[in-house]
Amino acid sequence: MNRLQDRVALITGATGGIGAETARRFLAEGAAVFLVDLEESALQDLASDLGDRVAFQRGDVSSEADMQSCVQSCVERFGGLHVYVANAGTEGKLAPLVQTSDEDFRRVIDVNLMGVFYGVKHAAPAILQAGGGSIVITSSVAGFVGSPGLGPYCSSKHAVNGLMKTAAQELGPQGVRVNTVNPGPVDNRMMRSIEDQAAPGAGDTVKEKFSAMVPLGRYSTNEEIAAMVTFLASEDSSGCNGTSYVVDGGMLSV
Ligand SMILES: NC(=O)c1ccc[n+]([C@@H]2O[C@H](COP(=O)([O-])OP(=O)(O)OC[C@H]3O[C@@H](n4cnc5c(N)ncnc54)[C@H](O)[C@@H]3O)[C@@H](O)[C@H]2O)c1
Repeated sequence: MNRLQDRVALITGATGGIGAETARRFLAEGAAVFLVDLEESALQDLASDLGDRVAFQRGDVSSEADMQSCVQSCVERFGGLHVYVANAGTEGKLAPLVQTSDEDFRRVIDVNLMGVFYGVKHAAPAILQAGGGSIVITSSVAGFVGSPGLGPYCSSKHAVNGLMKTAAQELGPQGVRVNTVNPGPVDNRMMRSIEDQAAPGAGDTVKEKFSAMVPLGRYSTNEEIAAMVTFLASEDSSGCNGTSYVVDGGMLSV
């Protein structure tokens, strides 16, 4: 299919599990893709793997200057921007709130909330300039429920749901739709980190426990999340604005 033919997309957290799969999917749908993440070498490797219609720039989403520069570079390279995927995120350090330092809490907020704010702030004018498009923010089921040990992460994901709803009302009338995708546990690096932090050396038992909380009996895959992001990025979702799209195998239904 060519649901993103002639569209330009910028993806943050592009070398991670969900980001890289989303980039692959967008390219298969005809888009040009601009990759942003923290490590130049990982970006280079992914870009080489993906082939044509790909460009990249190292950028830290928690830096407004970086995000402004990435959006500008994307527009210069591909002539515009239609889709912005605010996907970069960090799980932070697992700890009860009473043992969480100011610095650790703020770092998660800086990346997961301020990073989304800077991205939306600078991408939206470029998308408007290109005649409209879609912003997709990767939130989480942790945007709806609490999770012991993940206080900063849950706080940041609840917050971006509010940012999304506000952006949808401000930008929707001008032709920019804004939504979140809210994954449950996904089988990739981030869950490995959470499992290992929860039970050092016994992460598998944590995975079993989490999987048992999912009616489908398993974690979601990067591909399943990328499929939802692609739907929200494309005109198949032309009526969708200001809403959260949960991909969690039924976890929140319990
Ligand atoms: N993996 C899960 O189970 C899960 C569940 C729900 C939501 N999410 C969300 O999905 C998104 C993607 O994560 P993932 O699952 O692919 O995990 P991941 O760790 O594989 O990918 C996250 C990517 O974000 C990048 N990143 C982190 N901080 C950054 C910064 N300051 N600037 C730029 N890039 C930065 C990392 O380098 C990494 O490539 C995140 O927002 C995450 O919170 C993940």
